[in-house]
Amino acid sequence: MSIEIPEGLTELLQSFTVEVLRNQPGDLLDFALQYFTRLKAGESHESHSNARAGKAVNFLDQAVRIDAEISEEEDDDDEDFEAPVINRFIRRASVCAEAFNPDEDEDDKEPRVTYPKTDEQRQRLQEACRDILLFKNLDPEEMSQVLDAVFEKFCVEGEHIIDQDDDGDNFYVIERGTFSIYVKVDGTEKLVGCYDNRGSFGELALMYNTPRAATIVANLPGALWCLDRLTFRRIIVKNNAKKKKLYEAFMETLPLLTSLELSERMKVVDVITTKVYCDSQRIIAQGDSADCFYIVESGQVRITIKRSRTKNDQDEEEVEIATCSRGQYFGELALVTNKPRAASAYAVGSVKCLVMDVQAFERLLGPCMDIMKRNIANYEEQLLTLFGSSTDIEQQRA
Ligand code: CMP
Ligand code: CMP
Repeated sequence: MSIEIPEGLTELLQSFTVEVLRNQPGDLLDFALQYFTRLKAGESHESHSNARAGKAVNFLDQAVRIDAEISEEEDDDDEDFEAPVINRFIRRASVCAEAFNPDEDEDDKEPRVTYPKTDEQRQRLQEACRDILLFKNLDPEEMSQVLDAVFEKFCVEGEHIIDQDDDGDNFYVIERGTFSIYVKVDGTEKLVGCYDNRGSFGELALMYNTPRAATIVANLPGALWCLDRLTFRRIIVKNNAKKKKLYEAFMETLPLLTSLELSERMKVVDVITTKVYCDSQRIIAQGDSADCFYIVESGQVRITIKRSRTKNDQDEEEVEIATCSRGQYFGELALVTNKPRAASAYAVGSVKCLVMDVQAFERLLGPCMDIMKRNIANYEEQLLTLFGSSTDIEQQRA
């Protein structure tokens, strides 16, 4: 009896297998469900074309290229080599021991990944990525490659998106949902923070080829955009290498960072992005909730605080209390005290700031806390000069 293999089946399964090996999902069934749903969505989006066949062929091309490349490489140095695809991922699993050299072009050899998206998906994706600091320094072509390469993942309540100590597979951008962050302290998991419907995580293991530094658990059903490790390294890590060259010297001049080791200062460069403000533009608004920390790279920033013009009067004026220039920082107080912004900040002329998000601030700037606290104590002095007594300060704050 001969059984006819349906046209396209081999390609379909090979494409799927490549994706499984590429992503190494924890839950194969869940991954399969998402993969075929995405494939179907891509197919219906590109209706009346043979896009699906085209896509399958692309994937197959990739698989063949990968296998051929690895096969040649591995044949040279591994006589026991049997299964090229599997071996590729054995090598991938040991990646944590690799020395990282961002100047190497090894990842450029990797095939580009593209997940077709509906217009609606692309719009949601762009919205979710708008404030992701790691994407801010990308040029339009790099950003477009990132948007092509990400794929959507739906998660259920209680799902472990990342487990501490695992090998890194993807970088995640939050589309919706809240996610708890746990870090093991003396063998016990401790809740150290939470992402609330925005932000991103999972960059550290991919940047530094280290095991996952925290466990991330979905508190509710949610959705994430995932960027695979290879694309992340090819685009984001390379981009960061350029940034390092640019900011290495500046980092050395910052008094705030003197308590950090050189390698820690370089990690700060990895997580910062730059933002430019025009004259009089408000950078921080007093009373807002806080999610960023700023270092002035160029220009001047005015710090102002609201003060009632007369007692028992709602009529307020903004009084300048400080200015920050190159190398100085602001916006730490609300992050340290977990309170709303205590003052406003405005650009004087054109201003360029380095910006760091709250998670990176907490993770990297712990050793700088003494310096920050000393400055925070000075703020009280400034306000005493301005308002007279501490009772007046409290009244103004209220
Ligand atoms: P990664 O180590 O790849 O995987 C776990 C992620 O949790 C980590 O990247 C960070 O993106 C994120 N994270 C958030 N807060 C922390 C923290 N305090 N320590 C370590 N990782 C953290
Ligand atoms: P944050 O409260 O996060 O946002 C406003 C910033 O202004 C604040 O952090 C400080 O970095 C900065 N600042 C400078 N001087 C003062 C001051 N006297 N009181 C409060 N904030 C100040």
